[in-house]
Amino acid sequence: DKGNHRHFMQKEIYEQPVVVAQTLKAYLQRMDDRVSLPIPDFDLSAIRRVTIVACGTSFYAGMVARYWFEQFARVPVDLDFASEFRYREPVMEEGGLALFISQSGETADTLAALRYARSQGQKIAVVVNVPTSSMAREADLLLPTHAGPEIGVASTKAFTCQLAVLAAFAANLARAKGRLTPAEEKEIVRHLAEAPAAINGALAYDEAIEAMAHHIVPARDVLYLGRGTDYPIALEGALKLKEISYIHAEGYAAGEMKHGPIALIDELVPVICIAPSGPLFEKTVSNMQEVQARGGKVVLISDYDGVQAAGEGCLATITMPKVHPLIAPMVYAVPVQLLAYHVAVLKGTDVDQPRNLAKSVTVE
Ligand code: M6R
Repeated sequence: DKGNHRHFMQKEIYEQPVVVAQTLKAYLQRMDDRVSLPIPDFDLSAIRRVTIVACGTSFYAGMVARYWFEQFARVPVDLDFASEFRYREPVMEEGGLALFISQSGETADTLAALRYARSQGQKIAVVVNVPTSSMAREADLLLPTHAGPEIGVASTKAFTCQLAVLAAFAANLARAKGRLTPAEEKEIVRHLAEAPAAINGALAYDEAIEAMAHHIVPARDVLYLGRGTDYPIALEGALKLKEISYIHAEGYAAGEMKHGPIALIDELVPVICIAPSGPLFEKTVSNMQEVQARGGKVVLISDYDGVQAAGEGCLATITMPKVHPLIAPMVYAVPVQLLAYHVAVLKGTDVDQPRNLAKSVTVE
């Protein structure tokens, strides 16, 4: 049932404040200012390496998580697409945790990768949205997302819920590794608990994003730029746009622009810059200005301070609520989802059932 919404995708985008809150509830002990796991005594202290494997949007959630595992837990992370991982005979040493991320829990390549990791003596953790799925059954540590059924082929609420689980998991790992003081843990819990309201704040810009979507509809190519944890959000934004609007889009690490893709820039290629104010802002903005200097049309997605500092000369700006960097990926996922959605609606494509795509990819 789509309720008041025109498409399942739109409904699922709008469900995010509620389902992210639901998911966080399972991983945060707010009374004690602590993060927790569904299996409280699962021992993470001996984990020496984490290997993250997934496909599509779930892969981008894993890419965000890599920053967190390294930053908080100081554990080395390996990350790969399931379809590459399973054919490259990866070396998996003792003391490794293999982490699989999947909305459906049935993606054929991810499931095959899980079985390979099991054969290599790894502990198996899975972040899945379908609790009865194959991956859920084969896990040592099941980390459910509580997004509820996702119908739209383009994944939205499953992604933000995956990020919520992964942030809490990174904090659990950090604590188990003796890398997190109670005060730091309390801070993380506080920031994560702010995510649902911040996502709600992002949804409030829906109309502004819809208005901006008109500028994107005629484009043949669109670039998305981001740095740090905003880089996977750029990739996710480009994937969403490709999937449902059929416009060619690519996500790039902002600093990579000048190593090639900047040659594509002219006034016909819109560039979406994802740049919350914070430690990486200045760097991303200077890449953005390189684009503007070559006649590129930039859409800046930032917060009030960021838009004030760098919004001039942009084709459009979208102002997100000001948030802590930990939850920025969850919040900035919303405008890129909405942008893809509105462009697709304006183009008249089948938003919930885009051509050539299936919700669950059970072929290799
Ligand atoms: O069910 P999974 O999370 O394993 O699916 C992985 C990808 O097939 C999926 O994320 C796909 O990229 C989506 N259509 C993205 O919107």
